[in-house]
Amino acid sequence: MTTFTFTIFISLLYLTPTISSQTYSGNQGQWQLLQPSIGISAMHMQLLHNNKVIMFDRTDFGASNISLPGGQCRDDPNDTALQHDCTAHSVLYDIGQNTFRPLTIQTDPWCSSGAVLPDGTLVQTGGYNDGDRSLRTFSPCNDDSCDWNEEPNYLLTRRWYATNQILPDGRVIIVGGRREFNYEFYPRSSSSSTIWLELLRQTKDQGDENNLYPFLHLLPDGNLFIFANTRSILFDYKQNAVVKELPEIPDNEPRNYPSTGSSVLLPLDENQPFLEAEIVVCGGAPRGSRMLAESGSFVETLGTCGRINVNDANPNWVMEDMPLPRAMGDMLILPNGDVLILNGVGLGTAGWELGRNPVTAAVIYRPSELPERRFRVMAESKRPRLYHSSAILITDGRVLVGGSNPHVAYNFTGVDFPTDLSLAEFSPPYLASEYEAVRPRIVSVDESIGYGERFSVAFAVPEYLDYSVLSVTLVAPSFTTHSFAMNQRMVMMRLGGVRRLALDTYEVGVVGPSAAEIAPPGYYLLFVVHANIPSSAMWVKLQ
Ligand SMILES: *[C@@H]1O[C@H](CO)[C@@H](O)[C@H](O)[C@H]1NC(C)=O
Ligand SMILES: *[C@@H]1O[C@H](CO)[C@@H](O)[C@H](O)[C@H]1NC(C)=O
Ligand SMILES: *[C@@H]1O[C@H](CO)[C@@H](O)[C@H](O)[C@H]1NC(C)=O
Repeated sequence: MTTFTFTIFISLLYLTPTISSQTYSGNQGQWQLLQPSIGISAMHMQLLHNNKVIMFDRTDFGASNISLPGGQCRDDPNDTALQHDCTAHSVLYDIGQNTFRPLTIQTDPWCSSGAVLPDGTLVQTGGYNDGDRSLRTFSPCNDDSCDWNEEPNYLLTRRWYATNQILPDGRVIIVGGRREFNYEFYPRSSSSSTIWLELLRQTKDQGDENNLYPFLHLLPDGNLFIFANTRSILFDYKQNAVVKELPEIPDNEPRNYPSTGSSVLLPLDENQPFLEAEIVVCGGAPRGSRMLAESGSFVETLGTCGRINVNDANPNWVMEDMPLPRAMGDMLILPNGDVLILNGVGLGTAGWELGRNPVTAAVIYRPSELPERRFRVMAESKRPRLYHSSAILITDGRVLVGGSNPHVAYNFTGVDFPTDLSLAEFSPPYLASEYEAVRPRIVSVDESIGYGERFSVAFAVPEYLDYSVLSVTLVAPSFTTHSFAMNQRMVMMRLGGVRRLALDTYEVGVVGPSAAEIAPPGYYLLFVVHANIPSSAMWVKLQ
């Protein structure tokens, strides 16, 4: 690593002799406001394969700041905020244009879950009240004609705070939700009923719960990793069998809603002789935080992460200290395999008015560094993002950040943390111009790739260093809400050789993911990463 840093430094000096030491030293990334108001508060976000982002909050927040399309209104005598509402609660954001348009959601999608099907259609499930059994789909289109389709009574039971995971066969598993200790599938088969999941019953704390929005990751062996409260299992959903119960997280502090930490499956590296699957769970709030916050006492959130290799014969959590304690932090895998942690609070917990001391600095966790060098503190955002905020990685390697509404309705004045309708971006350090010399740009790649099949990616880079600092990664865009990025995963694909095509253009041979358990079929962002600096992505369809 040291030699590469050295090489980059030399080449940078050579190319940009005037670079200031201030820019160069301690690059902490950059925040920028994209839109002061997108009309709604971006509580749930999903990037689609046409570079548009679905965002929505809830139908019973009151009047949003954007009208429903076509002069429509929604009449709901049971709505707790506004029974006649002519405003939208979902928008479609166009990344390239930095514009947005309103979409139509009729039933309440508050605190729901989602996943993108292999054909690129977003399937979103559940919510609250009239929306708690809704199935909503959104198929991307290239004009402004597409909108939500809703099927209000599709789900077998109500799903409020459930988690979804796309499966190798293209189905979606929907796990848990408030008072639902079970799971079901999309599509629903005619005979189906919900299937009991004992872990969820056992991990519900009195009062606080702390097991909602369970952390779900599809593992390369086809089992699911399911984490609730402090406990986790490796679960065979085909046989409805617990394959292994992992040890409890050592500090015995809860990590799921409302304590709300976050979790990622670290990048799966197909270049390894044996594909390791490691999970990292970060942040949360100590047991009892919610009840204490309700009585006006805001305790410090959790400052630790637990990391576990589920392939070990006897897996164990290794605990690490974050530079800043945090609940409601989003964890996003960046194209170079680093993990970005952002948003959230330093005191209190999730829930109406229950968070204090927003943590505005992002943090980067570098999984393969030495433990003492893993965390780096990034720049601070000017905008606090507390409860009901979200973040996603987008095509060019930026991170979209939106939302924050810790109030029961939209509330823009007279409160410490007003409802935030803005949309911002965080540009990680790799986007800085000082890395132009080593930044790859994809010249061509197939639109469609196959399992285990060879294909090639052509890329241009001003200063090509070496094959050993090259990787080609696939990233599945996440459905992010409540600090958990559902379906997020990264696969580092197996590489063949590199050959030079022209002065600064190269071609690298790549082998598609070896199995659907490693990367379920669907649309992925493909990045070329060179010397830790990613290209902008191209979309590929894995099938
Ligand atoms: C509502 O949108 C308008 C622009 O359409 C903007 O000027 C205003 O600040 C927004 N309100 C809030 C509370 O964000
Ligand atoms: C309002 O709620 C009641 C009680 O849950 C239900 O019977 C009724 O169908 C609801 N009305 C509408 C329009 O959703
Ligand atoms: C916003 O919050 C303040 C302070 O709690 C309250 O007085 C006000 O009524 C709220 N406004 C709305 C629109 O809910």
